[in-house]
Amino acid sequence: WGEVAEIRNHYNELTVKLREKAAPHREMQLVFRVYDDGIGFRYELPSQPELGEFVIAEETTQFRLPGDPTCWWIPDSYDTYEMLYTESPLSKLGTTKQQGNADTHATEQGDLTGANTPLTMQVDEQLYVCLHEAALSDYAGTTLQPVEGEQGTLQAKLVPWPNGDKVRTRTPMQSPWRTIQIGERPGDLLESHLIANLNEPNKLTETSFIKPMKYIGIWWSMHLGITSWGKEGGKHGATTAEAKRYIDFAAHHDIPAVLIEGWNTGWESWYEDDNFDFITSYDDFDLAGVVAYARERGVEIIGHHETGGQVDSYERRLDEAFAQYQKLGIRAVKTGYAGTIRPDGHYHHGQRMVRHYQKVVETAARYGIMLDVHEPIKPTGLRRTYPNLMTQEGVRGMEWNAWSDGNPPEHHTILPFTRMLAGPTDYTPGIFDLRFERYADQYTLWNSLGGLETKGRMSTTLAKQLALYVVFYSPLQMAADLPSNYQSHPAFQFIRDVPVDWQQTRVVDAAIGDYTVIARQDKQSADWYVGAITDEQSRTLNLVLDFLDPGKTYLATSYSDAADAHFRDNPTPVTIDRRMVRHGEQLELRLAAGGGQAIAIQAVAPSHSLPGE
Ligand code: NOJ
Ligand code: CA
Repeated sequence: WGEVAEIRNHYNELTVKLREKAAPHREMQLVFRVYDDGIGFRYELPSQPELGEFVIAEETTQFRLPGDPTCWWIPDSYDTYEMLYTESPLSKLGTTKQQGNADTHATEQGDLTGANTPLTMQVDEQLYVCLHEAALSDYAGTTLQPVEGEQGTLQAKLVPWPNGDKVRTRTPMQSPWRTIQIGERPGDLLESHLIANLNEPNKLTETSFIKPMKYIGIWWSMHLGITSWGKEGGKHGATTAEAKRYIDFAAHHDIPAVLIEGWNTGWESWYEDDNFDFITSYDDFDLAGVVAYARERGVEIIGHHETGGQVDSYERRLDEAFAQYQKLGIRAVKTGYAGTIRPDGHYHHGQRMVRHYQKVVETAARYGIMLDVHEPIKPTGLRRTYPNLMTQEGVRGMEWNAWSDGNPPEHHTILPFTRMLAGPTDYTPGIFDLRFERYADQYTLWNSLGGLETKGRMSTTLAKQLALYVVFYSPLQMAADLPSNYQSHPAFQFIRDVPVDWQQTRVVDAAIGDYTVIARQDKQSADWYVGAITDEQSRTLNLVLDFLDPGKTYLATSYSDAADAHFRDNPTPVTIDRRMVRHGEQLELRLAAGGGQAIAIQAVAPSHSLPGE
């Protein structure tokens, strides 16, 4: 599965062997791989008599950039990537403090002075670069820090263990690849496969359980405060009856799966030690009965493990918890780490947690389970080696609109060229009811936790929500809104139609932070889907259909912002129109402020006529 059906892994490799001059003459190798779309290099410490177990106290890899490139960056938090991006010259990196963004339950880290990766920059008119890492396993995640007094120089800073160690390891060992993706346009970075290519091939022998799919979920109603995960307050969301309603909706509208959060006990004390056992259902929820009901209707259930950050406790129960899901026939699970990592002192992005995330991926694979990881370690291409690692959050996703001051319109035009270069992203698009201030009095839970200002609305138009299904890639892709908001809405047809697995991906046009147009071809057919999105500026763009098959006729169904649509005060009107198109034709895209356009271009018989003609 993926953004394209086939990837060429083509590079030149150089290994430089280094030997300490003084005794004990320890050895290290530097390995470089040079591709058309970038460079990877890593450190290898081979088996040797004078170096067995050791601690890496510091990694001082440096990147030197010419001039003062424009960067799109988030701060170097050790616990979260759920932050808004800042655009600034490299010389200003680390200087803008984010307020109300970092996970309020993060361990105290001190001042944020650098950036997390992927770190994307524009070096020149036609030179875009992204610094990241590939194959991060049994090592600490890295951040990048500006080096004082050395203009344009960034240095790696690894996320530490509680005692300050960076990496605890033994020979033979390999560091993750340090990666530099390079392109002439922003789209080159997104079309690059460097990160996946620098990972090992698939290690799973059994892969038949792995399948990309769309899903709805008992989920948004909790974020809106209409229902709750736990039973406190008498508005439990995951009841048997509610689950059946979601399953009926999914079956009726051909949505393959339903996520159910809050079915298991422990949510009243989310942040208390050992509250979750990942096994026991609330008494108003019949897990086996719900799964059977879903199976009879051809619908899958996606399980949920919120750990609250308690990883020791989760690891003790991991096998039992996955075994229960497997026995019932559940083959996808969403995990979560919203909370301070316990045992205390560990960061989400340190080596202890990198090991944990890895252990969960491998355990899940043994039980035939796909994963959607929230509050993860950033993706580094491990999906190639463990293709059950489908998608991850690690992004300031759609849910932030429910209980913070929200995600501004430009956020969506930055993500494809920053966070999303690392790998698939569970952003959870698809909100049709874009104004939900009326639920604001329900936000007491969130406000008491974070003291966040509530805006209660999306900063996009409805057409833009549709376009995100093409612009944002995720093999498990959510239709996040309440089923009642989709029921009989004509624009829901696009969400039903849009695939989650692709033959080809083309970035048609983009300016980071301004607008993005992406076209993708369905893996299973000749059909193409286009998503175009803009920031707070309305704009008209020209789309040349040069990617269509010249021998075919297509029916293009377009979902665009109505003439008077605006993300701020008129976000919902969508115009749906149909026309026949062929290779080489041009379409004018009209995007409202904060708007977008989604187009399904489906191959039809040449004699096909438009409905109603
Ligand atoms: C944070 C996750 O991102 C969100 O999707 C989930 O609903 C909550 N944690 C509860 O697990
Ligand atoms: Ca989250």
